[in-house]
Amino acid sequence: MFINGFFDYNQVSYGEKYRGYPDNDQVINRLFDPRYIRIKVEDEDSAVDHFQVVNVDKNLDMQTGLVHELFSITTPENRNFNLVVESFASLSKQNVYGVKYAIIPTNFEGDIELIKLHDYVNQSTHQQSEDVRVNQDVGQMQLDFIPDNGQPSYLVTTFRSQQGIILTYQADQATDSNPEIDYFEDDNHHYGYHSKYHAKPGSQKEFEFLFSIGDIHPLVNARMYADQYLASLDNYIRNTSFNSELMASAQVWQTFWLHSDVKIDGDPVIQSCIRFNLFELNQSAGRDEFTSIPAKGLTGNGYGGQFFWDTEIFMLPFFVYTEPTIAKKLLMYRYHTLQMAKEQASDFGLEKGAMYAWRTINGYEASAYWLAGMAQFHINADIAFAVEQYYTITNDEDFLKKDGFEIILETARFWMQYGNFAQVNGKRHFVINRVTGPDEYSALVDNNYYTNVMAQFNLRLAAKYAEKFGDTDIPVQLNVTGEEIAEMKEAADLMYLPYDQEKNVKLQFQNFEQLPKMSISSIDQSRFPLLLHYHPLMLYRAQVNKQADTIMVDYMFPQGNTQDQLKADYDFYEPITTHDSSLSKAIYAIVAARIDRDQQAYDFFSQAVKTDLIDLHHNTKNGIHAGSLGAAWSGIVYGFAGIVNNADHFSLEPHLPDAWNCVKFRLQLHHCELLFTIYQDQVEVELMSGKGMALSVYNKKIKVTPEDPKQICQY
Ligand code: BGC
Repeated sequence: MFINGFFDYNQVSYGEKYRGYPDNDQVINRLFDPRYIRIKVEDEDSAVDHFQVVNVDKNLDMQTGLVHELFSITTPENRNFNLVVESFASLSKQNVYGVKYAIIPTNFEGDIELIKLHDYVNQSTHQQSEDVRVNQDVGQMQLDFIPDNGQPSYLVTTFRSQQGIILTYQADQATDSNPEIDYFEDDNHHYGYHSKYHAKPGSQKEFEFLFSIGDIHPLVNARMYADQYLASLDNYIRNTSFNSELMASAQVWQTFWLHSDVKIDGDPVIQSCIRFNLFELNQSAGRDEFTSIPAKGLTGNGYGGQFFWDTEIFMLPFFVYTEPTIAKKLLMYRYHTLQMAKEQASDFGLEKGAMYAWRTINGYEASAYWLAGMAQFHINADIAFAVEQYYTITNDEDFLKKDGFEIILETARFWMQYGNFAQVNGKRHFVINRVTGPDEYSALVDNNYYTNVMAQFNLRLAAKYAEKFGDTDIPVQLNVTGEEIAEMKEAADLMYLPYDQEKNVKLQFQNFEQLPKMSISSIDQSRFPLLLHYHPLMLYRAQVNKQADTIMVDYMFPQGNTQDQLKADYDFYEPITTHDSSLSKAIYAIVAARIDRDQQAYDFFSQAVKTDLIDLHHNTKNGIHAGSLGAAWSGIVYGFAGIVNNADHFSLEPHLPDAWNCVKFRLQLHHCELLFTIYQDQVEVELMSGKGMALSVYNKKIKVTPEDPKQICQY
């Protein structure tokens, strides 16, 4: 069980610790598994004897969020029973988790005792792994029982981050036909539930439990107000039941699917995969403005459970277009951590601006390997880009004014501080040297194309909105001067973008053409991902990409490129890309679709969308790849449906895979909800709510209005 935002620090030990290296890593806490149960059969005890457990079936119902598991269990004395475990994390009441057990003896009659007692959190403090992406240390927590509450209740606190949460769970005794469940205290003063009954073969008895998990508090408050916090959790779960919570949660899932489902006709495997992806994304998103989406969702502690650019660039588009209220909360997380980003810029030695952490939970930098970490300054522009994307799609003026503009301005200020004007090939340019771009197989380069394009966009946004809000008191509040804005505009106009004129390709960074090409096809499959088998410098000195880098630019800023340019970039970068990062394939799929490489687009996409279901990277045990889940949605919407969106224009340029008869999805745009049904040669657009809007399909303009809500357009 992971709770978004509940983390602990680990001190990072460096061989040589230079100034500004973060003292601490942050890692999401792994709490006990709420599905855990102890079962005694006659004199045999699952906590002591070796019960053989076979997982016969495991099923996730994505309509309701219910996980159904069937285990066949045999005791050492050959007593056999089936155990059905059903569990769900509620979406309607986010601190509620339900678990229900059914026990069915198959070959014996006798006494069964069920004991539900959790008396430890996270026993292991160190996990062994050769994979650098797995945190070696985990959080250190303490679990204290809160006595005499009538149901097992805990205060769980962390040693180093000094957080505390209160947890409680109740047995639901709604049905008379099931055995009584009693609250009890054991010899160690640990509290739990137990139930003892006489069972006959084939009889089925059920036991239901509801957990209520409180908010995260500073440790002192959690201790001081434990009773108060606990009372409000109690009040809620004492008046509800497993079934009513499941129903309420299922209703939220229904609404989710109504607005966010993607229906594919003609490709059933991809259909289930994309639904699984959307399910996981929706379930992982922080909704309290103080949490984001960990790179591994809430399914594992790979990458420490930290937030990266994955949220803003790979996952947020899905939320912006289908659940804008959640998108806003995710952006508000960045707003609430802006102060820390400013502090970090100042500690770093910059006079102005904000420096967002490359990886973090609480807002402060947690990357110990700064070359492939903190130096990925593009995170600042990624966040500004996401603010703009949210604003252009939702027109949420209030957010832009109060919060979004400040993020855009402070990140733009960072570029003016970190970059500088300089002469390049006899011409004045704005350069941004010593940065790491998205591709982690190169580090600390000069003028990374992606970073510079994003910084340029960031600076132009700051200038645009400083002018837009020129007549308000915002510029004064944020100390914006005309001179500062003029300088930002000049930097954007003179931004240096390295280009290979001969090959007609964008250069990943300045002098990239001088590096030798790494021949990926001659490397044995067992040596991938390369990061686990090569010294980083062996990768940095060669033309080899872990993931889409320059190709990200062609994905995010397609306008202004000819098809020939896009093809040249693709043909240059694809052969040197290993796709060792799960963020890569879906992006290649989108660009491949745009340049009519239909088969490659489909192949890349279908691998991306299955990433976790087929364990493509052999590390799903450390958690799902949330960025890849979101990128797969983008693969459909930006790639196959071919949406192109900017502030004043929305169009579709579909390239549907041959196997698909049609794809159907809804998007929310400018306060309208539109249902798109895209066939091989025609697009149907239907206005589901809102005042209507104009858009185009390739070059044909169409308009949907409440009076004329449906348009069909051949392409
Ligand atoms: C990728 C990064 C990504 C991180 C977390 C790394 O492997 O190179 O781009 O942000 O994983 O998903």
